[in-house]
Formats: sequence, C-alpha cells, structure tokens
Amino acid sequence: MGKIILTGDRPTGRLHVGHYVGSLRRRVELQNSGEYDKTFIMIADAQALTDNFENPEKVRLNIIEVALDYLSCGLDPTKSTLFIQSQIQELCELTFYYMDLVTVSRLQRNPTVKAEIKMRDFEASIPVGFFTYPISQAADITAFKATTVPVGDDQLPMIEQTREIVRKFNSIYDEVLVEPDALLPDNEASMRLPGIDGKQKMSKSLGNCIYLSDTEEDVRAKVMDMYTDPLHIKVSDPGHIEGNTVFTYLDAFSKPEHFAEYMPDYAGLEELKEHYKKGGLGDVKIKRFLNSVLQEELAPIRARRAEFEKDIPAVYDILKEGSDVARETAANTLAEVKKAMKIDYFEDEELIRMQSEKYGKN
Ligand code: TRP
Repeated sequence: MGKIILTGDRPTGRLHVGHYVGSLRRRVELQNSGEYDKTFIMIADAQALTDNFENPEKVRLNIIEVALDYLSCGLDPTKSTLFIQSQIQELCELTFYYMDLVTVSRLQRNPTVKAEIKMRDFEASIPVGFFTYPISQAADITAFKATTVPVGDDQLPMIEQTREIVRKFNSIYDEVLVEPDALLPDNEASMRLPGIDGKQKMSKSLGNCIYLSDTEEDVRAKVMDMYTDPLHIKVSDPGHIEGNTVFTYLDAFSKPEHFAEYMPDYAGLEELKEHYKKGGLGDVKIKRFLNSVLQEELAPIRARRAEFEKDIPAVYDILKEGSDVARETAANTLAEVKKAMKIDYFEDEELIRMQSEKYGKN
C-alpha cells in the first residue's frame, strides 16, 4: 500500500517562522519528493472552534491567512489536496463511532490536552468538544488512511491516541484503518523555535512572532530586537550560545551556502559559535547575519504570497475543490467503517434475506 500524508493547522492566526521550520518547510519537501501517493493538508477550523467557539469570526477570517501562507510556502494544489475540515461531514461521523473506543481516563492522560486546559483556564469547566478533540483528530488522520503525519512533538500524544483507536477498531471489527507514524522535524532547534524574546514558544498573545507575511523591514527590526545573552555586554566578553535566540534561529535556518555568501570569514556555524563563546564577536554582527539568512528564505515566500493575494476568490476555489476531493476519500473510508461495524443495513442484501427467512415469508 502507498504512503499518504495528512497534516494540518488550526486557523487562529497567520503562520509564523516557527510553523515554517517546525512543519511547513518539511511538508513542501515531502510533497515534492515523489515518495508519497497523496498529500492532504487540512485547515482545522472545527478543531479551532473547540476552544474558540465564542469567536467564530476569528476562525473564519484566518482560513484565508493560513491558505495564503500554505500556498506561499510552496504547497501546490496540483500536488497536494488543500481542504477545510468542517466541510467534510464524514469526519464527524467517524469521530462519533471512535468515541466508543476511548475512555474518559485515557483522554485525561493526554499531556498536550492537559497543558492546553491549564493554559485556557478550562479546569473548572472543560467543553466536551475540546476535551475530545484528540478523537476528532484521529478521525482526520484515519479518514485519509494517512501513513505519515508531519507534526511538532506536541502532537505526539494525538498520534499515539490515533494508533490506539486504529488497533482497537481493527481488532474488534475489521482491518480497515491504517496506523499512522508521526514525522518530526529533523533538528532540535526546528522543533521548538522560541519567540524573539527567547520565551518558550512563539505565540501571538506574547507578541514575539516573526510571521511569514511580515515585511522585510518588520523582519529586520524583529531580528535586531532579538534576545541574545544578557551576560554578553561588551563585544570582548565571552558569550553564551545556550538559550541565545539568535543562535537557535541559526541552528534552524542557516545552511553552509549562507556562510559562503554572507560570512565568508567563517567556515560554518560551529566556527561562529566558537568565536562567540571566546569573546570578540558582537551581537549586531550575528544579528545582521541572521537577518540576511532569514530574508533569503522569506523573500520568495513573500513574493509568492503577493501573487496569490491578487486573486482571493481563486484561493477559496482551491480550498473548495480540495474539500470536494477530500470528502470523496473520507466517504470511502466511512463506508468501509460502517460496513465493518455492521451498520450498513441497506447495502447488506444478505442481512435482509436472512431476516426475511426468520419470519418465513418471501
Ligand atoms: N492539532 C493540530 C495543531 O494544533 C492541528 C490538527 C488537527 C492536525 N487535525 C490534525 C494535525 C491531524 C495533524 C493531523 O496544530
């Protein structure tokens, strides 16, 4: 059987460079690798509503932002199916049946959901829809028989939950569902890109994001503002790499070619780090270098975005067509699921014949 990718994002804001190194960049490579039979990329609006149900306008308006970010990064609707979760009603049906296979205590153990409940002050009254979103995410993944789910490590509990549901379903009913594997970013810095303030993660509420759609000047200003090493006061002072946001970003973004082009005095990142640690390398110099690296990566993304922004109705059309394709795939899986669960009464002539015989008529 072929390899199939499914992944997605909640449309609660524009995507930032953390999304880019954590997942988007990889998706585009996978899409273009020729190794996958199908690639499904989903805008998870229904999941976003589980904790934004009072703010539907936010979710609604961010769908186009996420779609533009996808397209500008190089996700290509001729190679990948881009679609909107809520438009695939089959996902709700699958979720409903999968709910039979998961216990409340199992959901309570999900560390990502636990952390989110804390963060959102949901402790006192957790919406059921939010609490059960890992089950709905299992529906997202299995509806497309995805083998591979490129995500950040915060999503590992969802993949594990999905695998458990698949195993349980297949053992009770029939071998219909496929157990997916997560595909994590290949370097540590990309997995958890901090905000420009050095805080844990980029987040809109902290105002520490570099967005894919930021202007060249925005990006430059944010890089120049970046948190480095508070102990590195004079250029001659020895500096620290650990927790130094500029170096974390260089770990995630810089390539050997960037050194040849912008920092020819250094063979590579290791040499730059050594110099910084020894002392004598100023923050402004490393920030200028990071700015060049980021601008080189983001310029083509920005340019493609500007092109797609010229025809917004066409972007909605891409999502509509993608949703039609996705619905067909999900409907096929749902039909198999219902057959395996013996709830396909009207398609089952054998059942009708048997029940007729029981009553001795016909
Ligand atoms: N939970 C994911 C996030 O917050 C979004 C998502 C929804 C997803 N369904 C998915 C990711 C299925 C991968 C596969 O980013």
